[in-house]
This record gives sequence, structure tokens and C-alpha cells, in this order.
Amino acid sequence: MNLNGKRVLLIISGGIAAYKALELIRLLSRAGCKVTCVLTKAGAQFVTPLSVQALSGEKLYTDLFSLTDDSEMGHIELSRAADLVVVAPASADILAKMAAGLADDLATTVLLATDKQVLAAPAMNVRMWQHAATQANLATLAGRGVLIVPPDEGPMACGEFGPGRLAEPPVILDAIARALGASGPLSGKHAIVTSGPTHEPIDPVRYLGNRSSGKQGHAIAAALNALGAKVTLVSGPVAIPDPLGVTTIHVETAAEMLAAVEAALPAEIAVCAAAVADWRAASLAPHKIKKNADAQPSLLLTENPDILRRLAAPGALRPRLVVGFAAETQNLEENAAAKLARKGCDWILANNVGGTGIMGGAQNQVTLITADGAEAWPLMNKSALATKLAARIAEQKL
Ligand code: CTP
Repeated sequence: MNLNGKRVLLIISGGIAAYKALELIRLLSRAGCKVTCVLTKAGAQFVTPLSVQALSGEKLYTDLFSLTDDSEMGHIELSRAADLVVVAPASADILAKMAAGLADDLATTVLLATDKQVLAAPAMNVRMWQHAATQANLATLAGRGVLIVPPDEGPMACGEFGPGRLAEPPVILDAIARALGASGPLSGKHAIVTSGPTHEPIDPVRYLGNRSSGKQGHAIAAALNALGAKVTLVSGPVAIPDPLGVTTIHVETAAEMLAAVEAALPAEIAVCAAAVADWRAASLAPHKIKKNADAQPSLLLTENPDILRRLAAPGALRPRLVVGFAAETQNLEENAAAKLARKGCDWILANNVGGTGIMGGAQNQVTLITADGAEAWPLMNKSALATKLAARIAEQKL
């Protein structure tokens, strides 16, 4: 990655993840970017000013009121001299101050005074992240054009589990590079990703569905976008937010998902991560089906279209690389290899969904099956798996 001549103002706020900011400085510097840092008072509880200054090789700024000397840069100049202002980690507190327009220290004063693009990588306890106040602040900031690099999900320093861990430094670096206009390995490519379950109505109140959360598909859409691809995400009903920077189309049924996918073509890349319902009710009851003491209702099913198979079928609009998932509960490799052949796709990521925790969980373990054979990947966070898959896709000549 080449960020030669670019200048980033990095604001490090408080939180256990502040140590990862040091790794981010190292990665940015290695890419040729000049990094000037502002360390908040809370941030200085977690990393030392000396280590930040030593790594960035630039003067470190900490205190608003020390900027009195003419030779020092004032808070206005500080942000004007940068191409991008990055807040990493961004605590719940600094996000709240940014949303409210508070300016009670150097970092928040810079953030209020800047006319530059701002990118924030939040990190906090899961409950703080999920709190309505934090989510409202994030929505406010995103609405004002602040780029947000969402946190990862996983075990936290406080012993809890969930979203809130700072995104990994290479992921933040990619987002910074995109924000600075650097092209990624997938720039100019269009990717279609399907995600989540489908809901197949039975009557006006009931549907057939499954446990898919959409976490894996959404993470793949975000990871492809982070490498520069233009991404269309076609999502079934999920409870997670749309990934930033991605065009998301919301659908309910398999038929709607197929129509949205076909409308999004052409594309160089297609990844089918959705857990599409294999069947739908043969006929939709116009009214709620009532209980009847004399007879149990029976449900006649009819098969849904296979979206992956349609995408992978030979034709002018076939994406160059079509990737599917194989949810299996037994004979993983054998069944997945047969699925690869049957569906006509190029790669299959086979996962064992028999145990608890994969479907709807934060982690995933897959075996990548291609024409060259099978390659078992370790158990990892769904976002890390998405990053690995996107990097592998970017290695292909598409
Ligand atoms: N898929 C699809 N459309 C369908 C069914 C599946 O696009 N109607 C895609 C999924 O997104 C996934 C792959 O096909 O990428 C395999 O899904 P899976 O449920 O494992 O396989 P099925 O085709 O349902 O086969 P089986 O039920 O026999 O395991």
C-alpha cells in the first residue's frame, strides 16, 4: 500500500485498545504516511506519550493550553495540516462529545474545528456499544459524513463478550487508505454478496425461516469494500446494521433475493452467503390459518430457485468468480465437493453447522474447496474470515 505524502492526524482516546493505535501508527508510517498524534488525557492512561512520539517520529500534542507558543501548531492548523483526521480508538465518551459538538480538550476542539474528513474506529464495552445513546451518536456522526470502522465481536478485556473490540489495525489501515483515495486491489470491480436468511410466508403472520444472522455475509461485503470493490449486498431480514460504504438491498423471500441479484448484475465477483430457504409454501393462505380441533393442517412445499446455481450457470453475465457456502452437518468435505460440482461455482466455503454457535455466533470455521483441493482454515471471528476471503479473492486475476 502506498500512502506516500499523505498526512493523518491520529487522535488516540482512552480505552484498553489504545495500545493497538501504536500498531496503526507503525502500519501508516510503513505505508509512507506522515502521522501526527493527539493523545487525550484518558488515552495517556493506557499508552505513554513517549511511545506514541517515538513511533510517529513527530511532535505529540496532548494539551490545548500548551499551544500558546507561536512556534507550536494551534488546534486549527493541526487539523488543516492533515488530509484525514482519524480517531482510534474512539471511546463512547469522545463519540458523544463529537455528536454533541463539545470542545473541552485539544482532541475535541480539533474535531469541532476541522473541515477535513473524519474517520472513527470505536472501541468500548459491549453494553456501552449497544446503548441507545451510543448508537444514536454513531447515527448522528455517520449522517454528518464521519466514516465509522465498526468494532469486532469477541471476548473483551472486561470479561464480557460481544461487539466492541477495536477493529484490527490492518482493517483500519485499509479504511484510511480508501478515505485517502488510494485504490485497492479490487478497485473497479463489482461484487454481489447475498446474506442472512430468507423468510417464506405461509399466511399473513407466519413464515418459514432459519437461524442465519447475516453476520458472515455482511462482514464479507464490508471486507470486499475495504479492498476497493463496489459492493451490492442483497440481504434477507436481519437484526444487524447495513455495512457502511456498501449498497444494501433488503429482501424477504428467495424469489425477491434472486430478482435483486439478477438486477445487480453484471459483476466480477459473487459471494452467496445467504441461508436461502430451500422451500416455500406452495400456496400463500390469504388469511391467518386457524386451529381446527378435527384436523391438523398440512403444509405443501415447493422448491425455491437456487440463486447460487443461477449465478454460476454459464452465460455472458456469469461473474468471473462465484463463491458459495456449504452448510453441512456431516461428511463435510465430501458433501461440499459434490455441492461445488452440482452448483457450478468456483469456490465453496464448507462449514459444519451441526454444532452450536456457528449459525448466529461470532466465529466461524470453514474449509475452502476449489478445483485445487481442500484447505481447512482455523476457527476465527467472522470479520477475520471475511478479511481473509477478500484478500484471497483479490489475489485472483478478475
Ligand atoms: N443457495 C442459494 N439459493 C438456494 C439455496 C442455496 O443461493 N435456494 C446457496 C447458499 O447461499 C450457499 C449454497 O447455495 O452459498 C449452499 O447452500 P446450502 O444450504 O448448504 O445447500 P443447499 O443447496 O440447500 O443443499 P442441501 O440442502 O442439499 O445441503
